[in-house]
Amino acid sequence: MSNIYYIGVDLGTSQTSITTSTGKRFSTTTCIGYTKDVISQKRFGRDHLLGEHALENRLSLNMIWPLADGVICEDEQSLQATVLILKHVIAQTTTEKEKDDKIYAAIGVPAQASIKNKKAIIEATKEFIDKIIIVSEPFAVAYSIDRFDECLIVDIGGGTTDLCRMHGSMPDESDQITLNFAGNFLDNELKKAILHKFPDVQLSSKIIKSIKEKYGYVSEVSEIVKVTLTKRGIPSEYDITDILQACCLKLTTPISKAIQELVGSFDPDFQEKLRNNIIIAGGGSRLKGIDIAIEKSLHEYGGGDAICVQDAEYCGSIGALKMCVEMPDEYWEKI
Ligand SMILES: Nc1ncnc2c1ncn2[C@@H]1O[C@H](COP(=O)(O)OP(=O)(O)O)[C@@H](O)[C@H]1O
Ligand SMILES: [Mg+2]
Repeated sequence: MSNIYYIGVDLGTSQTSITTSTGKRFSTTTCIGYTKDVISQKRFGRDHLLGEHALENRLSLNMIWPLADGVICEDEQSLQATVLILKHVIAQTTTEKEKDDKIYAAIGVPAQASIKNKKAIIEATKEFIDKIIIVSEPFAVAYSIDRFDECLIVDIGGGTTDLCRMHGSMPDESDQITLNFAGNFLDNELKKAILHKFPDVQLSSKIIKSIKEKYGYVSEVSEIVKVTLTKRGIPSEYDITDILQACCLKLTTPISKAIQELVGSFDPDFQEKLRNNIIIAGGGSRLKGIDIAIEKSLHEYGGGDAICVQDAEYCGSIGALKMCVEMPDEYWEKI
C-alpha cells in the first residue's frame, strides 16, 4: 500500500524551509548557481549547485535568486531554478519514499507570487507533487500559531516584507501588502553607510549580511559594535554602532505605514483589535528590538501592540504542514 507524505514548505525570497509529517526538517537558501564555463563544469561534474553549496562556490557560478523580488523572475531559468530548489528540499526530507508513495504539499510563497505564479508552480511541479495548495507566506505563519481572529501578520523576509490582515476567514488580495523593504534592502543601506564612513574597507554581501544578523538592532541602546574589516587585505576594527542602528531603523517607517493602511481600511469596530495584535515573523523579526521599534513608530497613528513569533525559521513551513493535513478537498488545486 502506498503512503502519503504531507509536507509544508516555506519558499521564501532568501530562505526555503520544509517540515514533513514524518518529523523531518530542512532549510536552505533559495538560490542556485549554474556553472560558468567548462572548467567549473569539470570542477563540480554537473551544471548547477544548490543553496549554501552554491553560495560557497559562487566564484565559479552564475548565481540565481529566483524569487528575490517576491515573484518568480521572468527569465527562463528562474522557474526552473524554483522547481530544482523545491525538488531538492523534498528529496532531502523524504529519503525513505517508495515509488508509489504520494507527496501532498502545501507551499507558502511570497504574497505576490501566490497571486502571479500559482499556475506556473503547479504546472512545473506536477511530476513530483501529487496534490498541492499554494498560499501566501504570512497566511502560513498565521496558521502555524492558530491566529485566525483579527490580527496582522508582518513577515519580514529577505526580498520582501509581506503583511496580511486576518479576520477569521480566508484573506484575499485586499488584505495583503507587499513591500520591497526587507533584509536585502537593509544589507544595501548598511553597505552604503559603512563605505560612506570608512571608504576603501572591503565588503561582500556575505560580510554585510553576517554583521546585520549578528549585531543588527533597532533598540534605543546597544553595546558598542566594533567589527573587523579589511582595507587592502589588512584587518582593523571599525566602530559601526550608530550607523548600524540608523540603517536598521529604515525598515520601521515603511512597515508602520503599511500597517496603518491595513488598519485604516478595515471595519472601524475592529481596527483597535487589529492594531493591538501585530505579529512579526520572518528572519527580520530577529532584529533586536524590532517589536518595540514598530510599536513606537505606530504612535503617530494611534499606537499598537506587537510581538515576535518564537520560531522565525520554521514557523511558515510548520503552518503550511498543518494546512496540508487539515485542508478539505475543495481547497486543493486540481492537478
Ligand atoms: N538575526 C537576524 N537579524 C536580522 N536579520 C536577520 C537575522 N537572521 C536573519 N535575518 C535576515 O532575514 C532575511 C531572511 O528572512 P526569511 O524570513 O528567511 O526570508 P524569506 O522568507 O524572504 O526567504 C535575510 O535578509 C536575513 O539576513
Ligand atoms: Mg519568509
